[in-house]
Amino acid sequence: MKYDFTTIMKRKGQDAIAADFVPMPDEDGRFTTVPEETVETIDNLDKIPMWVADMNFPVVPTITTSMAKRLEHPAYGYFTPRKEYFDEIIKWQTTRHNMKNLEPEFIGYENGVLGGVISALNVLCSKGDQVLLHSPTYIGFTNSLKNNGYNMILSPLKLDENNVWRMDFEDMEKRIVENNIHAMVFCSPHNPCGRVWEKWELEELSKLCEKYDVKVVSDEIWSDIIRPGAEHIPTQMATGYLRDNTAAFYAPSKTFNLAGLVGSYHIIYNKTLRDRIHKESSLSHYNEMNVLSLYALVGAYQPEGYEWVDELNEVIKGNIDYACDYIDQKFEGVRVSKPQGTYMLFIDCEDWCKTHHKSMDDLLKAGLKCGVCWQDGRMFHGDYAIRLNLALPLSRVQEAFERLDRYVFNAPENQ
Ligand SMILES: Cc1ncc(COP(=O)(O)O)c(C=O)c1O
Repeated sequence: MKYDFTTIMKRKGQDAIAADFVPMPDEDGRFTTVPEETVETIDNLDKIPMWVADMNFPVVPTITTSMAKRLEHPAYGYFTPRKEYFDEIIKWQTTRHNMKNLEPEFIGYENGVLGGVISALNVLCSKGDQVLLHSPTYIGFTNSLKNNGYNMILSPLKLDENNVWRMDFEDMEKRIVENNIHAMVFCSPHNPCGRVWEKWELEELSKLCEKYDVKVVSDEIWSDIIRPGAEHIPTQMATGYLRDNTAAFYAPSKTFNLAGLVGSYHIIYNKTLRDRIHKESSLSHYNEMNVLSLYALVGAYQPEGYEWVDELNEVIKGNIDYACDYIDQKFEGVRVSKPQGTYMLFIDCEDWCKTHHKSMDDLLKAGLKCGVCWQDGRMFHGDYAIRLNLALPLSRVQEAFERLDRYVFNAPENQ
């Protein structure tokens, strides 16, 4: 590999919630974290951060050099994004995702994808409206929709006979009709299930949305992190209806680990939708680009960034294969559907918990006790689910699974 995906970065004390905090199951089912040093582990084992969705790899060097070069000019006043910002996004989306006829005016800055999702819902819905989503559901959707007065109507994804998560179009139709729904939040690739949706699935979705005039808010923040061979099809490229009735959100923050720099963007082909969302997101005067995040994006979307993401995807594939094989071979009662995208594993521990008479809290705490900082999947609507972040050097993933084997799933007291 040309880039470094093996060094174990010391992130503690370096502005990283992944290392400075540990997620802790909360009696009321809410999401809480506690300072890392307050959580004791067996034999003082170190903590392996496998929860919040950021990565434990150093960024591609062009990001740092691009920002460093800009820092040499000692003035950071008001600005508008330079042409390279739009050029590099167009090149990236065209090359990586086969996006067609993308023009600079279709692209708009967003501080964050979630903020963009809410701006879009604010122009498509009235407060109190019902919005269709799939479950399991990314907790960020749950919190931000709730906080902004929207009711989530959840259509469960179902595992098919090949252990692949699928949309249930009949169920979606029923819920759209019963709740008079005109907006949905679609996650592509899907967090936490890791599906990279196929063309026919997007076409079915499109038919349904067109039939009931449902507009689509498409969160494609994970679009670059897919297994080699998988193809992310932008929602807007799937059909004419979806092109004209979708607001899509992207970010280099997930792909290149830049969440701390802040900066995402939307792509919206439909002018009316675009104008309304732009107006809505400008109302607070908070949705403004940071000059360093502009240079971070331009640095990321250089040829080196293309190579870096290809290598990253190889590394993630290796980690996912390792983890899924380990689960299949050694963790009886734990099930997983191998994700085609994202670096998350969403594991189902129902059989294990029932066989061993353990609650989810018991299980989660047992993982934390051996330093595996994993995330409660109940917040994603998986009753016995745990979400595991695998964006770490393989040696750390191996260490985590060996500890889970020894101290949790096959611990002598659990036999
Ligand atoms: C599906 C999805 N959307 C949005 C976000 C958050 O994006 P942002 O920080 O840009 O709001 C995440 C982060 O994990 C995510 O998984």
